Amino acid sequence: MNEDLSLDWKELGFAYHKTDYNLRCTFSSGEWGEIEVHTDETLNLHMAAGCLHYGQQAFEGQKAFMGKDGKVRLFRIDDNARRMQNSARGIKMEPIPLELFREMAIKAVQLNARFIPPYGSDASLYLRPLEVGTTPLVGVRPADDFLFVLFTTPVGAYFKDGFKPTKVVVYREFDRAAPLGTGCWKVGGNYACGMRATTKAKENGFSAALFLDPKEKRYIDECGPANFFGIRDGAYITPKSGSILPSITNMSLQQIARDMGLRVECRPVELEELATFEEAAECGTAAVATPLSEVYDEANDRSYCFASNGQPGPVTTELYRRLRGIQLGELPDTYGWTTVVDI
Ligand code: PLP
Ligand code: COI
Repeated sequence: MNEDLSLDWKELGFAYHKTDYNLRCTFSSGEWGEIEVHTDETLNLHMAAGCLHYGQQAFEGQKAFMGKDGKVRLFRIDDNARRMQNSARGIKMEPIPLELFREMAIKAVQLNARFIPPYGSDASLYLRPLEVGTTPLVGVRPADDFLFVLFTTPVGAYFKDGFKPTKVVVYREFDRAAPLGTGCWKVGGNYACGMRATTKAKENGFSAALFLDPKEKRYIDECGPANFFGIRDGAYITPKSGSILPSITNMSLQQIARDMGLRVECRPVELEELATFEEAAECGTAAVATPLSEVYDEANDRSYCFASNGQPGPVTTELYRRLRGIQLGELPDTYGWTTVVDI
């Protein structure tokens, strides 16, 4: 327990807690302004702002970790910055310059350093960069003005059981994205689209919905907040699909898998193939690598089960250990994935 902040680092969960400062930068008349530091948690938006009506909104999620050596590390922030540019371009918003993104991320961690959870707590400081179109509009068109906000919040595990096997469900009556839609970008509309499935999944005792490809309903796409991977015969197998978010955690795990001597297969993965998998998991910044105990296909009343003894599989466990090890400064960062932040 941190007495000063009245936060119990081990009980945080994945929820919003106020920190001291958020950073903002606006784009108008064709250029980005100065970085502003705010303590106010609210935004003053015009009621006709394009983001509120026509969904011009994109966000990111990344974490800062307190390391074993007392250093604070951000994980692959330039990849988040590039993905945010792709998301912005995908919905006709102004891409945020990579340097601006980086500077604001580092500054936000420095200004909110007292909220970085200690090493060993399994918690971290989550960064949420958000870009919205602010021009007042009634006709449907891209905004001319944008606001980039970056706030931080300390978080624990996304799924309440942390690194414990969890159950997910496949529903065929919902899609989170269209085949040539916005699924590959991190825009709020995808999450709104997935909410009926996610809510139904939770009501039925699952931690998340696993979406199938929206065209044929035959291949695995991804979970609401995370990519999917499975392990079989020395291979790390993960879906290739145009309607999923390219996960930075997944990219990292693929590299770690190669380093562990696994083959990496990034290709369409049929749902029925799950019957042959030894392990399955979902991965992402928030989910890290969360092992799956069961994927339930509701339409066919069929369960694919993994981790039958209730424990995560050995390969998923080692992937998790190595990824966390790099993030926490316990293992060498051979690929230059981390940025040490001076605090
Ligand atoms: N897929 C979706 C839909 C997500 O929201 C996320 C989270 O960002 C991921 C996958 C995982 O991506 P990353 O590993 O970059 O956090
Ligand atoms: C993340 O993993 O950072 C995410 O943004 C997922 C989610 C909480 C939407």
